[in-house]
Amino acid sequence: MTGTSAIALVQGASRGIGLQYCKTLLQRNTVSTVIATCRNPDSSSGLNYLKNNNSSKLHVCKLDVTNEDEISNVYKYVSENFGKLDLLINCAGMLHPSGKGETSLRSVTGQDLMSTIHTNAVGPLLMAKQFSPLLLNGDGLVGVRSTDPSSQHCGIIANMSAKVGSITDNGLGGWYSYRMSKAALNMATKNLSIELGRGRKKVICVSLHPGTVDTDLSRPYHKNVPKLFTTEYSVNCLLEVIDSLSIADSGKFLTYDRTQLPY
Ligand SMILES: NC(=O)c1ccc[n+]([C@@H]2O[C@H](COP(=O)([O-])OP(=O)(O)OC[C@H]3O[C@@H](n4cnc5c(N)ncnc54)[C@H](OP(=O)(O)O)[C@@H]3O)[C@@H](O)[C@H]2O)c1
Repeated sequence: MTGTSAIALVQGASRGIGLQYCKTLLQRNTVSTVIATCRNPDSSSGLNYLKNNNSSKLHVCKLDVTNEDEISNVYKYVSENFGKLDLLINCAGMLHPSGKGETSLRSVTGQDLMSTIHTNAVGPLLMAKQFSPLLLNGDGLVGVRSTDPSSQHCGIIANMSAKVGSITDNGLGGWYSYRMSKAALNMATKNLSIELGRGRKKVICVSLHPGTVDTDLSRPYHKNVPKLFTTEYSVNCLLEVIDSLSIADSGKFLTYDRTQLPY
């Protein structure tokens, strides 16, 4: 089953940047369906509000990104109902189970490190594994394919990363779990771009940095942030970047203003 309007899936959509992606994508005439996934659909007031106002376009599914059975259930739902995917946004993320990054080696624990890496890096890779057949069925309706026929891509994977995941850019240290998890996510993006860029049908894979955005995740640090973006501003910028993507961009780590970051 294919169509002429885009199917998008936002993983980690209950609040913050993920919820804003859903709001903005739902406003687009070129997007026919937004599948919003989150751990506890009933307790997301933001998604429930959207559901009541966009019921035919919005599909809300339960998905904890650390649970492979739930990923597989949502894959079956999307496969049976739509048969393709044009855009997958892996947005769920955590700074650290405590809500604050480690300031020194003393505060590192194996359990916290593993749980951060599981959510921020392992989960998005398993999403890509499960959904890549549907992305390879995509119609290239997101990205520049309509205006740049040389970009023969079918779907796009946008992994929400963070500038602090750049190894080259790390001048301050600290935040072991978050930095390591996002560096691992960036490696997943690069690997995916190679494997999913080999065949005749291709999927564009990028890591994106949203800026510092006014959400629960960044809340403990708002006092020290000179330029705190609203979710609306950040997501508008990020979708402009996503709209501009071609195969030549696959594997890149890009900021909200399309600057390329070093890995
Ligand atoms: N805000 C920033 O300044 C900033 C900067 C750089 C990068 N980012 C990245 O942008 C992404 C979104 O962050 P945000 O600022 O919007 O954070 P947020 O407001 O704290 O939202 C985090 C989201 O992740 C979800 N989540 C956490 N663990 C999950 C799991 N196991 N399964 C499914 N969903 C899970 C949360 O769901 P629940 O409601 O169920 O907890 C929530 O929807 C993250 O990947 C983050 O690292 C943010």
